[in-house]
Amino acid sequence: MAASAAMAALRAVRSVPRSSHRAIRPISFTRVPVKPVRAFSISARRRDDASDNSEPGHNVRYTTDLYPELKRNPRFTELKQEHVDFFKKTLEDESAVIDGLSKDATDDLEPFNRDWMKKYRGHTKVVLKPKSTEEVSKVLKYCNDNMLAVVPQGGNSGLVGGSVPVFDEVVINLTRMNRIRSFDDISGILVVDGGVIMEVADNFLKEHGHTYPLDLGAKGSAQVGGNVAANAGGLRFLRYGSLHGNVLGIEVVLPDGTILNDLSKLRKNNTGYDLKQLFIGGEGTIGIITGVSIHCPQRSKAVNVAYFGLESYEQVLKAFKEAKLQLGEILSAFELMDAESQRFVHDKTENKRPLEGQHPFYCLIETSGSNGEHDNEKLETFLEHVMGEEIVADGVVAQDDTQIAELWGWREGITEAIGHHGGTYKYDLSIPIKDLYSLVEDTRERLNSKQLIGDDKAAMAVVGFGHIGDSNLHLNVPVRRYDKEVEAAIEPWVYEWIQKKGGSISAEHGLGIAKAKYIGYQRDETMLKLMRQIKQLYDPNGIMMPYKYLEGVPEHTGAATS
Ligand code: FAD
Ligand code: MLT
Ligand code: ZN
Repeated sequence: MAASAAMAALRAVRSVPRSSHRAIRPISFTRVPVKPVRAFSISARRRDDASDNSEPGHNVRYTTDLYPELKRNPRFTELKQEHVDFFKKTLEDESAVIDGLSKDATDDLEPFNRDWMKKYRGHTKVVLKPKSTEEVSKVLKYCNDNMLAVVPQGGNSGLVGGSVPVFDEVVINLTRMNRIRSFDDISGILVVDGGVIMEVADNFLKEHGHTYPLDLGAKGSAQVGGNVAANAGGLRFLRYGSLHGNVLGIEVVLPDGTILNDLSKLRKNNTGYDLKQLFIGGEGTIGIITGVSIHCPQRSKAVNVAYFGLESYEQVLKAFKEAKLQLGEILSAFELMDAESQRFVHDKTENKRPLEGQHPFYCLIETSGSNGEHDNEKLETFLEHVMGEEIVADGVVAQDDTQIAELWGWREGITEAIGHHGGTYKYDLSIPIKDLYSLVEDTRERLNSKQLIGDDKAAMAVVGFGHIGDSNLHLNVPVRRYDKEVEAAIEPWVYEWIQKKGGSISAEHGLGIAKAKYIGYQRDETMLKLMRQIKQLYDPNGIMMPYKYLEGVPEHTGAATS
């Protein structure tokens, strides 16, 4: 009885007629063949070649020039020859130390001093590339004993300026710690060095029928340790959840050189405080992650990707609600892109747009499952519904892996396209979903009213996109050059806006240096006090990540007293 009622309901939904007067292109229902899932991310090119003068904005200013209020903390020792000699002796391999003290190594140091956005640039004179946990331990202990400030660095793809030094901090880069330590294809538990690149981990897992539980546009550069340190979110968060759940254990070197070995391979472990959680999202402020144990899901056999045009943000919300309802467990991504974001991608790539007409909003939906026929049926029902109800104005479904990659390109290509002209003011925000896009509209109105956007102005547009499935907006203001007037018009106004809505000023990118001084818009004094105590406990000399995270300029914190 119940089953036949369900079938009748299903038929009823499927038989909703498409309105005959709509001038929209029917969605192609041709399916992606059932075959192993593609690696669907497009690796971001690293723009860290110091000699690359072809792109606009290559002359990156020093962070200390951009923010002259930052002062070097005199507690830290200045790098001397004896320090460099110790590092060379300890790390043995010639290529493990980039020495800018005894010779001019500006070009070699530049990729480690400059961030991906070309917004932050430090003055380090030495980069260390240890190859083992023991080496990390030795050099970190030495830095601690000698009061040398330190910046841990992974793939340097971070978007908040955390991964590069401000002054002359020692950079400890994990690139050479790139071993896959073990994988169990029954439990799906992978153990790797902190410096393994995400894409390398995912390709390895692909061979074993599994997938890395995180995907993002910089997967070709970003490292597993960097993912964990940043608690990165990305495109699969909707499906696989946070690294706070997927990371089962970590190996960390504390600032005094102590090796904390918590490389658990257990899904469940309730014995005492879960200390590893402090390092997930700790952004390198209390230790260097040298090993990670992570739970990896089975790789989906069937993947479908659809790209829609929609007429309003309300329709986006309706489509999302329907996707959750009708696609349920096979929904693996629901991403939002506004018209401006797609315009930038189009201008940059000159690729043919997926849809004929243009729309104020676009969504990319991905399903991943284990049974192609079952998934196709579900997707078809969903598509018929959203088209029939005119929730979606137009759309296409990828018919093969190449088309899947092409459609993803319109989403993943945004970061590169908007940063291309000189830079981007980036805001990565959690906002209650109903209000999410109104921030983009308010920002646009604000910058327009101040006449800050235009062909002859620093700011080019206000762009909104993000992980709608996680209520995570990426508000971006692409600029021809970083400009104080534009910055002052947005900050701290944007954080006040977020505070009023009960959102988060940092959804997935972290605090780094960009948001350090605004942490008070999110955390009250009681929380900040406890956080400072934790920092003091793990890093009493304060050598890790000075000027960042909890160390923003105090008078700008906006902290609410509790
Ligand atoms: P880095 O950038 O080198 O470092 C990030 C932070 O972690 C720094 O504070 C650094 O000091 C610290 N750190 C790095 N390695 C270690 C370690 N082993 N131990 C301790 N601390 C360490 N982020 C998202 O969340 N979601 C996205 O969708 C997303 N998409 C992106 C797309 C593009 C094109 C780009 C350029 C970036 C994107 N990012 C995204 C940001 C970035 O890629 C992630 O934060 C990533 O996890 C950073 O990894 P990384 O190895 O490059 O770390
Ligand atoms: C994304 O979702 O594409 C990333 O977080 C990068 C960005 O915000 O630019
Ligand atoms: Zn993101």
